[in-house]
Amino acid sequence: MLSRSAKDTVWFTVVCFLALITSVFAKCTREGLLAAANSYVDAFSAGRLDGLQLTLSNFAYQENNKAADIKRGILSQSHNISLNRSTADTIACASYTMIISLASGSNSKPYVTATQIRHPADGDTSTISSIDTIAATTGSLFFNAQKTFGYIQKENWGVIETAANRPSRELLRKVGDAYLDMWTDAKAADSIPWGADCERVEGSQYTRPCGVQLPRGGSSKRNGNRRYVIDEVMGSVDVLCSFDALGNMPDSHEIRVEGGEVKYVHTITVISERRVV
Ligand SMILES: *[C@@H]1O[C@H](CO)[C@@H](O)[C@H](O)[C@H]1NC(C)=O
Ligand SMILES: *[C@@H]1O[C@H](CO)[C@@H](O)[C@H](O)[C@H]1NC(C)=O
Repeated sequence: MLSRSAKDTVWFTVVCFLALITSVFAKCTREGLLAAANSYVDAFSAGRLDGLQLTLSNFAYQENNKAADIKRGILSQSHNISLNRSTADTIACASYTMIISLASGSNSKPYVTATQIRHPADGDTSTISSIDTIAATTGSLFFNAQKTFGYIQKENWGVIETAANRPSRELLRKVGDAYLDMWTDAKAADSIPWGADCERVEGSQYTRPCGVQLPRGGSSKRNGNRRYVIDEVMGSVDVLCSFDALGNMPDSHEIRVEGGEVKYVHTITVISERRVV
């Protein structure tokens, strides 16, 4: 039998240990990450940077895999937003946001964008250390913002309620990598747990079920420069990359896993001049 004070000590140790685990594994809060993502959506809508808390030194901005001046990029114009949706990676202190903006004003271009926002390593979500955007518009791969909007707005992106039903971080990372490896690794496609009712929206091209007619190797150029945002609560992974297997294209692949199987795949791909397909 443990004495009361010994029990208290054991309990205290357990609580401290759990607090330690939480602080080691969850570095940023979901709320903080999503608030920063929303400040980006507002900036995108207004075409103004003043609501964005950027780090004073070392802030990094890139558009379509190239370092750029944020003041001259996509945020320098206002946009009417038809859809925005964000996910949060509490371990990497990062968020992912998809925005669909249909052309409506006289001089506005339609956009479908994929943006990853990162925060300082100390877990402070009130400042943004980098914004990394893939911005597809007319001329991008299978681009049609209206059609993309039609498909994506019907999807269910509710949080996966029970923790037991959430895919692990490891599984999400594996699925994201295996997807991008399909062009260079003949075995990658069969390693992915395709859901029977999986839907893919590739630009505006819709495929259901999506686990058929997949690439099985053939390219020698691995899709590189991968940046991840993994959200177990949403069951999603977004990977920004350079889609080198088909020719150096700025690209975003987002995948949602439900019940251990792939449910949605979204790709946003910009065709660069050096494309060789
Ligand atoms: C972004 O999406 C949320 C949820 O659908 C919505 O409430 C909000 O108004 C949207 N923001 C903009 C700027 O459109
Ligand atoms: C937004 O939509 C309104 C109404 O259609 C239009 O007048 C305005 O020019 C649009 N703004 C942009 C940036 O497209």
